[in-house]
Amino acid sequence: MCGIVGAASHRDIVPVLVQGLQRLEYRGYDSCGVAVQAAAASGLTRARTTSRVADLLAQVQHEQLQSGAGIAHTRWATHGAPVVDNAHPQFSHGPGADAQKTQPPRIALVHNGIIENYEELRARLQGYGYRFVSQTDTEVIVHLIDSLYQGDLLAAVQAAVRELRGAYAIAAICRDEPRRVVGARAGSPLILGVGEGENFLASDAMAVAGVTDQIIYLEEGDVAAITPEGHVIADGAGQRVMRKVHTVHAHSGAAELGPYRHYMQKEIFEQPRAIAETLEGVHAIVPELFDGPVQEGAGGRDGAGVRPCARQVFDAIDKVLILACGTSYFSGCAAKYWLEDIARLPTQVEIASEYRYRDSVPDSRTLVVAISQSGETADTLAALRHARAQGMTHTLTICNVATSAMARECELAYITRAGVEIGVASTKAFTTQLAGLFLLTLALAQAKGRLTCAQEAHHMNSMRHLPLALQSVLALEPQVIGWAEDFARKEHALFLGRGLHYPIALEGALKLKEVTYIHAEAYAAGELKHGPLALVTSEMPVVTVAPNDALLEKLKSNLQEVRARGGVLYVLADADTCIESAEGLHVIRMPEHYGLLSPLLHVVPLQLLAYHTACARGTDVDKPRNLAKSVTVE
Ligand code: M6R
Repeated sequence: MCGIVGAASHRDIVPVLVQGLQRLEYRGYDSCGVAVQAAAASGLTRARTTSRVADLLAQVQHEQLQSGAGIAHTRWATHGAPVVDNAHPQFSHGPGADAQKTQPPRIALVHNGIIENYEELRARLQGYGYRFVSQTDTEVIVHLIDSLYQGDLLAAVQAAVRELRGAYAIAAICRDEPRRVVGARAGSPLILGVGEGENFLASDAMAVAGVTDQIIYLEEGDVAAITPEGHVIADGAGQRVMRKVHTVHAHSGAAELGPYRHYMQKEIFEQPRAIAETLEGVHAIVPELFDGPVQEGAGGRDGAGVRPCARQVFDAIDKVLILACGTSYFSGCAAKYWLEDIARLPTQVEIASEYRYRDSVPDSRTLVVAISQSGETADTLAALRHARAQGMTHTLTICNVATSAMARECELAYITRAGVEIGVASTKAFTTQLAGLFLLTLALAQAKGRLTCAQEAHHMNSMRHLPLALQSVLALEPQVIGWAEDFARKEHALFLGRGLHYPIALEGALKLKEVTYIHAEAYAAGELKHGPLALVTSEMPVVTVAPNDALLEKLKSNLQEVRARGGVLYVLADADTCIESAEGLHVIRMPEHYGLLSPLLHVVPLQLLAYHTACARGTDVDKPRNLAKSVTVE
């Protein structure tokens, strides 16, 4: 999704800006651009493209762009198509019908987020004589700042943001204020990177990982100005404030592919390591596992007030509400089975974008669990805040980024250690979330006196063997490639599962549609005869997750229903299920039955199926069309 980089330095910062964009590339974008204060009288200048950041780099090199201050952006289109005119930075040349032609640009601006009152502001600015050349809501902000500018960009930005409704992170430069960049945030993340003789603004610490590890997390409503010598921050009330500087070792986004063709394939194969690292140091089930890393600085559990520890929180709750989106939502759906079965805690799983607007019935004895790979997903953050506003203050996040907004805002946290996930289609984040959620289930069960020592030992043993079990599932790749050759020629697919494996069928269908563009639907297998059976023909492959669990016999009956209608079955069957390959029935035999942890294994061949089908169809596996890695707008 959109990314911002800004820099003010005594050296030429154009390479830093472009490298910053390269580090943010994995998040997904459809255009990019950079604007700088060019030398001497030439004022503001910019380069933009609807191609890749590599092309932007070629463009700035060709034009020999150099400067000590500038802003750069990757855009994921919301308002207006992904064309150059809508790419950021946007310029304001001031009011007047001919200003574009007769006046040099005065303000340049980049923006993440969505301005909700942009139509009203646009009409007003048009009344002042501003001419709009893009379809973006961003152009409203740049003209608004220009209209309020009286020689101080910081003051103009402060005045402008008071009029904005919606979510934004912005960075701006002004022709008349050399080597100064001003940023502001509300609802979208923005960090300030502190360097030596240079300072930075960015939407993500990863963007400046190559130049500084000293990071300030700007808070809601903050407006900040950077110069090479220093920075100033004003809070939402306009008061000058000091914010804590954190040392952050952000990973570089430019991880090596090694022997793999794509990041998605690499990340699927990293799962044994990711699970091992996520579970590293877990020697016993204790609530302290969920206290999370100590953080100081912005918001929630860091700094402001005393936050309770997991032991206190677990005593204070007797139900669970899970909030998440996409793949993270499906991990929550699987966890519901564990939490109700093992910990006997009533569990509700909600799609964050729905929950945030629903008039639900709050219960203060609820543990609100936000699940997210990025920890920055706008809908999940809003749902979390909505739950808190309703009096449900006990919050925990299962999240892959220790410095994310979710990790900072929740009382408790379990940080998964999947490592940076670059492929837009989430894979290792999902299985590590499941591992974290299983641990949470055990910790809650223990806190409630519902876990015996023998059960704890049994589950710990199973978890310890997970990396090895995952290795043997990955060895099934050649058989999955055989299936992918069939799927590459299909336009539709059905996925079936029951109980704990229904969420795995949902996740399998999501993976397939995301990276192959094949229309895929998932159903709880018992629902088949209530409608979707009408879709079954020899042209409809039906993928079935068939572990050897209590629902196996029921599932076998569902498979008969498909076979009787000429449907072609692709079954992931545990070793002792007695489901054998036959005409129209393709079976991949899973290495072993893994009990309650079986979803972590059964999802892997489905990830591989999506991946290899995408390769066979020649899609852009790591950056599927229309999708972004981190969805930071509503
Ligand atoms: O970062 P999050 O886990 O909060 O992201 C949630 C979804 O946007 C994400 O899982 C999305 O569905 C992935 N593209 C799935 O592969």
